[in-house]
Amino acid sequence: MNFDVLPSPAYVVDETLLRKNLEILQHVKQETGCKILLAQKGFSMFYFYPLMREYLDGTTASGSFEARLGYEEFGGETHIFSPAFTKQEIETVLPMVEHIVFNTPTQLKQYKPLIESSGKRIEIGLRVNPEFSTQASEHAIYDPSAKFSRLGTTLSHFDERILSDLDGLHFHTLCQQNSDDLEKTVAVFEEKFGRYLHGMKWVNFGGGHHITRADYDIDRLIRVINRIKKTYDVQVYLEPGEAVALNTGFLVATVIDINFNEMNIAILDTSASCHMPDVLEMPYRPEVIGAGLPNEKAYTYRFGGPTCLAGDIIGDYSFDKPLTIGDRVVFTDMAHYSMVKNNTFNGMPLPTIAAFTQEGEAVIVKQFGYADFKERLS
Ligand SMILES: Cc1ncc(COP(=O)(O)O)c(C=O)c1O
Repeated sequence: MNFDVLPSPAYVVDETLLRKNLEILQHVKQETGCKILLAQKGFSMFYFYPLMREYLDGTTASGSFEARLGYEEFGGETHIFSPAFTKQEIETVLPMVEHIVFNTPTQLKQYKPLIESSGKRIEIGLRVNPEFSTQASEHAIYDPSAKFSRLGTTLSHFDERILSDLDGLHFHTLCQQNSDDLEKTVAVFEEKFGRYLHGMKWVNFGGGHHITRADYDIDRLIRVINRIKKTYDVQVYLEPGEAVALNTGFLVATVIDINFNEMNIAILDTSASCHMPDVLEMPYRPEVIGAGLPNEKAYTYRFGGPTCLAGDIIGDYSFDKPLTIGDRVVFTDMAHYSMVKNNTFNGMPLPTIAAFTQEGEAVIVKQFGYADFKERLS
């Protein structure tokens, strides 16, 4: 990959790496007959939707804009879930989706007449909350089973009067997890909600499955899906976002100044706050090609963005040689939850979006300018 031919900063996604992930997901589909949807909240680079459509069954959306993107650019099945829909949102998405998952029986009852009056056959699901956390407690903001969670209906609030309206159940409790956590979650889900699943068409295991990570236990995932399909005679859906794009993208940046305050500080033309907000939100330290941990190599630098935020720090990295102004820096694993979350705080320009084709050619997919900043503001 020749990163030097790209403008800076730029997100670049590699087609070969993306296909590799999609082939792993296809294997799961082939071994189970399950359906896999792209969770667009994690990765919505629709330049690649035609390619992804060769492998996946459709998309899931978190709101009407994502639903429209999936419907127009991806095709296949279009699902939507929101913690709370407005009437206008339901009216907008009705022509685009064929699966709606509600968060509460109240929302389902509220919009059932509207859906029926549209004359369109919509499959309706309810998101349930198994109240079973498998995530480390420091990840509470990513844990839909955390105490007081608003995400999903708990067993004590499951209103059996809506059973005849339901085609399926949905749960989503995982984040970057392996299939052992899924297996434990499914056991609790079954204990609480399994009796309702008999007679339904499908169950959706949500996202958070790190299926394309090297140590992911795919055989266990296949066993869990096949057992549920057999026990309840239902279709199983998975809706990963991150696993689709995991390790397929890079963020190319440039050193624009180097200064010193008790340590070397390199200021880049990219920002944690604007271009990779999960670095601060999660938080985590992204990897940089050719760099080591602080002090592992001879020259250590703290990478920061050019915004006013004192905490716009990407991380500390060491190199064999001193960095100089103009050097390229390439962050790895930057396809998912980056483009979809970026912003123009401080008037920061948005990175170019690029692709490497299977032949190794660099394609500039989209460049952004002042208008993209201005148009959002008034
Ligand atoms: C309901 C739902 N489905 C799917 C996903 C995708 O999760 P991931 O990108 O971790 O696979 C999320 C992520 O928050 C979600 O909330």
